[in-house]
Parts: sequence; structure tokens; C-alpha cells
Amino acid sequence: MGRFYITTPIYYVNDAPHVGHAYCTVNADAMARWHRLIGDETKFLTGTDEHGQKVADAAAKHDMSPLDWTNQTSTRFREAWDALGISYDDFIRTTEPRHYESVQKFLGAIYDNGFIYKDVYKGLYCVSCEDYFTFEASDNGKCPIHGRDLVEMEEENWFFQLSAFEERLLEYYDQHPGFVTPDTKRNEAYSFIKGGLRDISITRTSIAWGVPVPWDANHVFYVWYDALINYLTAIGYGRDDDEVEKWWPYSNHLVGKEIIRFHCVWWPAMCMAAGLEPPSHVQVHGWLLVGGQKLSKTMAAEGGVRLTDIAPVTLTNEFGVDAVRYYLLRETSLGNDGEFSHEGITQRYNTDLANNLGNLVARVGAVVTSKCGGVGPRPIENSSLRRDAEIAVDESTAAWNRFSPQGALEATWGLIGATNAYLEAHAPWKLEPGADVDAVMGDALEAIRLVAILITPAMPQVAEEIWRRIGLGSTPTAERFDVSASWGRYPGGTSIVKGTPLFPRIASDS
Ligand code: MSP
Repeated sequence: MGRFYITTPIYYVNDAPHVGHAYCTVNADAMARWHRLIGDETKFLTGTDEHGQKVADAAAKHDMSPLDWTNQTSTRFREAWDALGISYDDFIRTTEPRHYESVQKFLGAIYDNGFIYKDVYKGLYCVSCEDYFTFEASDNGKCPIHGRDLVEMEEENWFFQLSAFEERLLEYYDQHPGFVTPDTKRNEAYSFIKGGLRDISITRTSIAWGVPVPWDANHVFYVWYDALINYLTAIGYGRDDDEVEKWWPYSNHLVGKEIIRFHCVWWPAMCMAAGLEPPSHVQVHGWLLVGGQKLSKTMAAEGGVRLTDIAPVTLTNEFGVDAVRYYLLRETSLGNDGEFSHEGITQRYNTDLANNLGNLVARVGAVVTSKCGGVGPRPIENSSLRRDAEIAVDESTAAWNRFSPQGALEATWGLIGATNAYLEAHAPWKLEPGADVDAVMGDALEAIRLVAILITPAMPQVAEEIWRRIGLGSTPTAERFDVSASWGRYPGGTSIVKGTPLFPRIASDS
């Protein structure tokens, strides 16, 4: 038994949750559920990033105080995660007192260690990024990410001496080859460090919506240096050293590729400066993009649909929660960009879910009802399907453990395909009731039992429903994985429940 601490970025509350946020959160959720399934002590943290200019602007635009605005929008994130079956253990808001305390203690420690000093900052600023750019790094004076005009800013700031950590960071990377995955993103961060690090400004006087700097009342911490610390606040930094010690060595940050610098350069250096080890792992994921395809009639907006216009609940209403989760996990491997389209999700739904998984469960239910008196037979110990099952368990285990929900589901679908082929080959529906039919159906039920366990992290509700239909009590997660995920544990002798189709087909032109 191990330990697993997983975090998502904390999302800005300037906007409503959309499918891009859901992509990251569902992946983190599946990873958390996987680790709980294999018996690891697990903590899953998500939350909202509530300070900074962008949020203050959004509040002003809606004629609300920043706090009223953040209360409202933060709630929308929780609602979206409830709708997607997200099993977070803690939801952090950066406006909470516990966070103020941790931020002030953490940055206070860096200050006490002599890595923070005062200077004047002058530069080009993008409010959307909440970040400064040099002219060279800008797109001719415009933000390279948002395309908006950068604003010339000058202010007296407290600086973090990032430059002092260049060597130590490179050393850390060399000694921890798995610190940032995938390798392409690790190399990107590494080259950035090798290119030379400049000190960074970490406070603001131009805005009041932030955590006050304890040693200088005119300043608040710049939103990013407040935000990153959330990962420590949630495990008690400054309040409970034992908790920090317990979880920090098992920390995994799942982050989008646009925030690599913050998580793979600034953050480990800040941890070092505060006298802490860097987080143990950063898993970077790519972006979901919409290629100008109309998503659906209800989502259509003039001039096409942007990903940020799609609320996760619009999708769960149309396809069901677990189908949306499946699509987000299966379609795009963590690290690559992916295309999000209505056609894509419909196709995955109809092929993988309706035709493969749904059909397997339905036909087994039907044959057991008509040929086995509705009672599931036992599997055969040395069934030819056993090998396929063992490969699926081994491969999906390895894939989950290397942060590849996509690979894990692919391996699981290998078993679904093999079981459907096994049924086709033996055609039990053509046989008279008796030992031959029982043997085939026992094996198929055992394969379905294993599939239900393996899909639990991705599709928890469907997994439980399949479990119920094959006549098993309790839940697919009740038993320890290393015991339950081996061939031959379907007990036989229990009544099968025939139900309505798990995934009724969806017309592909909707
Ligand atoms: N508040 C900062 C993060 C601070 S973490 C200490 C932030 N917030 S955000 O609201 O902009 O969310 C960024 C994250 O949302 C990305 O890193 C990514 O995980 C997710 N996504 C937002 N749009 C996305 C896509 N189009 N595709 C995939 N993920 C996307 O940055």
C-alpha cells in the first residue's frame, strides 16, 4: 500500500467551468480513483484561484464585490464537478483563512532565508496571463497567448531570487528523471532553465485583491505565488508539519501545458528556497481544441463554438456522466493536444460504449436468461479467455500507474473485444442449454466482472450497474484489487439482472 496525492490547477473564477477544465479534472479524478482502488491512501485536491487582476476585473464587470463574485463562481465549479462525479477530497479556495496563513508562512520562510528583496519592476504585462513579458518574448508588443495588447507597468516590487536556483534545479532534474512527464515537456522545462533564469517579481501594490505581504503592508502577493502554495495549504503547511511530511513526498500535480514554467521552474525553486523538497511529480497535459465543428444544435453559437463556451453539464445531459468521462479519458493521451468534437464523442459513444461494452453486457444477460435459467454459471479455470483477461489487467495496471488513463482503457477494451469474439466463436445462443453453454457464459461473466473493476476509475456509475446486473452484491471496489482482479472469482449461482440498454445508441447527426 502506498500513498498518492493528486492536484489539479486551481481554476480562475473569472469565468464559468468549461470542457477544458473538465478534461483536467476528470483525468485527475480517474487517477485518484485508480489509486484508491489499488488500496493507496489517496488525497485528491482541486479548487479555485480567486485573487488577482483578472478576477477583480470580472467582479467589477458584473457590478459585484470580488468576494461575492468568487463565492458565486467557485460554487459553479463545485456544481460542475458534482455533475461529473468528481471525487475530490478537498476543495480549496485561495480566499480561505487557512490559505492566507500558509501563504504568509511559506513566503515568510523564503524571506527569512534571504531569497526575497525589493526592487523596481518595469515591464509589459498581460492581464489575462497575469504575467509579465519581455518585448522579445512578446508578439510584437502583444501577448503571445492571448493576442491582446500588453500594458506597460512600473512598480516597486518584492523579488524572488530565482536566479540563485538555476544549478540546483538542473541538478534536481538530473537526479529525478521522472519529475516532469511526458519527456517532451520535461525537456522543455529543462531547456528553459538552462537558458538562464531571471529573478521574478512576486508582489503588487497596484491591486489590493490578494494576500497581504506580512512584512510590507502596502503589498499583496502576486496571484501566481499565492496560487501555487494552495498545494501545500491543503496538507496543512504552517499548521501541521506531520501532514505535510505525510503527503508532500507523494505529490502529483496535473497541469496544462501553458503553465509549465510556473509548475516546473518557479514552483520547485520556491519550495527549495522555503527549505522544502520540490513536489515529486508534475504530469503535463495538452489542450483540447475544437476544430470549428458545430458541436450540437443546442451548443451552436454564431461563428462556431469555442471550447470555453461548452459547459460540462451540456454534455452530461446529452451523453450521460460516465460516457463524457470515458470520452475525455480515452480520446486524448495525457501530454498531447486533442480534438474535441461532437462527432468524436458520438462516435466513441456508439462504438466503444453502445456496440462493444453495452452489447456485451446485454447479450450475456440475454443468453444467461434464455439458456441458463437466469443464473450465472461459474467460469472455467483454464479458459482460453483467461489469457486475454490477464493481459488486460496487467496492461491497464501498468498504464494507470504511468498516468495513462487512455492506455488503461485501451487495454480494458481489448478484453471487451476478446470476450465479444469469444462469444461469436462459440455462439452459445445456438446451443442447447447444458454444460457447453454454461462454460462459455461463466467465462463471459468473469470477463465482464473484471471489466467492471477495471473501468471503475473512469466510469464509476456504469461499473456499479454492471456489477449489479451480473448478480454481484456490494461494489466492484469493495474488495482489494490485487485479490479481486484475478481470474476465476465470479462465484456463479447468482441471478442475472436484465436491464435496459446501458448505452442506447445516439443518432450520429444530432
Ligand atoms: N489559476 C491558474 C492555475 C493556478 S495553479 C496553481 C490557471 N487557471 S485556469 O482557470 O486558466 O485553468 C488552467 C487549466 O485549465 C489548464 O492548465 C488546464 O488544466 C485546464 N484547461 C483550460 N483550458 C483547457 C483546454 N482547452 N484544454 C485542456 N485543458 C484546459 O491557469
